Amino acid sequence: MSHSDDDLYREQSINFLELIWGQGYLSPGGPQEVARLLANIDLTAKRVLDIGCGAGGITLSLARDYGAASVVGIDVESPVCDTARKLIEDAGFSDQIEIHKVIPGPFPFADQTFDIVFSKDSIVHITDKEALAAEAFRVLKPGGWFVASDWLISHDHEPSAQMKQYIALEGLDFAMASPGRYQRALENAGFANVALHNRNAWYCEQAKLELSELSGSRREEFESVVGIDLLQSNINIWTAMVKVLETGEHCPHHFRGQKPG
Ligand SMILES: C[S@@+](CC[C@H](N)C(=O)[O-])C[C@H]1O[C@@H](n2cnc3c(N)ncnc32)[C@H](O)[C@@H]1O
Repeated sequence: MSHSDDDLYREQSINFLELIWGQGYLSPGGPQEVARLLANIDLTAKRVLDIGCGAGGITLSLARDYGAASVVGIDVESPVCDTARKLIEDAGFSDQIEIHKVIPGPFPFADQTFDIVFSKDSIVHITDKEALAAEAFRVLKPGGWFVASDWLISHDHEPSAQMKQYIALEGLDFAMASPGRYQRALENAGFANVALHNRNAWYCEQAKLELSELSGSRREEFESVVGIDLLQSNINIWTAMVKVLETGEHCPHHFRGQKPG
């Protein structure tokens, strides 16, 4: 698997996250959380863009389980793109699903290419939420939905000391923004029917379960796959994350908006 020193999601981290959330899933909740995110959105025979497709589990599911005619997954890192391509090829979906490694910034697609723009827990890595919303709007066909889950911070002020400590431990390029900023970015891009839904209560409980598995019931299994050092650093991350989930400052959200028809 090819990687560069700048990659944040390398083979070991991919293996670790898949052990928690399932093969091809690099974010919480597995298929059940994707189903909740996609409630009342019909993907049948649609052309779908998946922003930040990661290891491809959800990208595959959008075609295999939701009936999308075609899915294009985009990501900025080679190891996750390689993993996703293999998963999709092994599942026999290479005709319907393409994975593109892209450079951050405007999407390499023409206006009005997609019926649905989807994203799961990836926009947290993109600093310019306004430009991202404008790009999602541009590549959607009229009437199409932008449906996403992401990791937000509850306010527009300086993060608390606990939150700064958590973000530093993650070691990822998190650019967390508030629900208000997301709402304004979507509305200013032109989206109608904008709705946000706070998933903090759910993920707070879920993350505590994950932490108890990492540090207790599944510790040996994790240690055998990723080694004691990576496991311990993730236990430290989860411990810090649970604290900011408990205060509500770390507040994963679902959000959606529709391009007027
Ligand atoms: C937490 S993972 C989620 C992956 C996948 N959506 C899932 O839920 O399993 C975040 C992904 O966003 C990708 N990413 C980071 N910056 C990006 C950007 N500017 N455009 C697209 N993807 C990006 C990362 O490489 C990583 O694969």
